[in-house]
Amino acid sequence: MTYSTLLFEIRDSIALVTINRPDKLNALNDTVINELGEVAVRIAQDNAIRAAILTGAGPKAFVAGADISELADCDPARAHVLSEKGSHTFRRFELSNKPVVAAVNGFALGGGCELAMACHFRIASDNARFGQPEVKLGITPGYGGTVRLPRLVGRGRALELLISAAMIDAQEALRIGLVNRVVPFDQLVPECEKLLRAILENAPLAVAACLQMVDQQESLTQDEALALESRRFGELAGTADFKEGTAAFVAKRKAGFIGS
Ligand code: COA
Repeated sequence: MTYSTLLFEIRDSIALVTINRPDKLNALNDTVINELGEVAVRIAQDNAIRAAILTGAGPKAFVAGADISELADCDPARAHVLSEKGSHTFRRFELSNKPVVAAVNGFALGGGCELAMACHFRIASDNARFGQPEVKLGITPGYGGTVRLPRLVGRGRALELLISAAMIDAQEALRIGLVNRVVPFDQLVPECEKLLRAILENAPLAVAACLQMVDQQESLTQDEALALESRRFGELAGTADFKEGTAAFVAKRKAGFIGS
């Protein structure tokens, strides 16, 4: 399958997805959103893919936001649909049972910051810049910015970013917890691959259960979330990988997980 706005390759079971409109700083037009949706389904369904990296083409931008030239023509009904569609697409990455990391290689503004936040975690290059500048355009974030930003960095910091429209650099993003780590530009994708390869050494069902439970606990009470965790813990104790992981520990050898 080929895409007109994305580059897609699988490197030893890790999908590398590159949003490829560098002349428009990888702004998210309708085609990009459609193709990201297709890629999210592909990542979920293709057994040859075990993890994914999302990044942007060129040295300047991850994604500089929704495509403002498309946005400018929207009436209220169309804008509502556009927001729902983008939001639904981003949520697919967040709901993935396979780890998805954003490799933020430059500007991550508006929808770009929102796309990065919908990934399970974010690694930034030292030239990355983050912001939610929508209020400068007379609108709010539409792809989850008011929801995920406070959850990641806390309400006060999120509100400051959302209503000041300030842009922050990679070190500040690291300081407030918006990104997991900052690396030199040329190390960005290798560092993401290294982290994902370490994750892929672990038991796949247990990794997937962590991804699911951390998402689900946000809509549960603490007691419900603790009960869910105990149920999943019990279920996983019935897997072959649990037997293998514990046996490998006792035998002081490396575990060979099979995902069942
Ligand atoms: N939508 C559509 N086109 C965009 C875009 C966006 N979100 N962001 C950048 N572009 C385009 C520019 O229009 C320009 O195209 P052109 O060469 O055909 O004129 C090209 O990308 C390069 O951008 P430019 O503004 O010239 O680069 P810069 O280095 O001077 O500034 C930014 C970089 C990121 C600060 C600036 O592009 C910007 O503010 N972009 C919009 C960010 C935003 O508000 N995002 C939220 C949208 S809801």
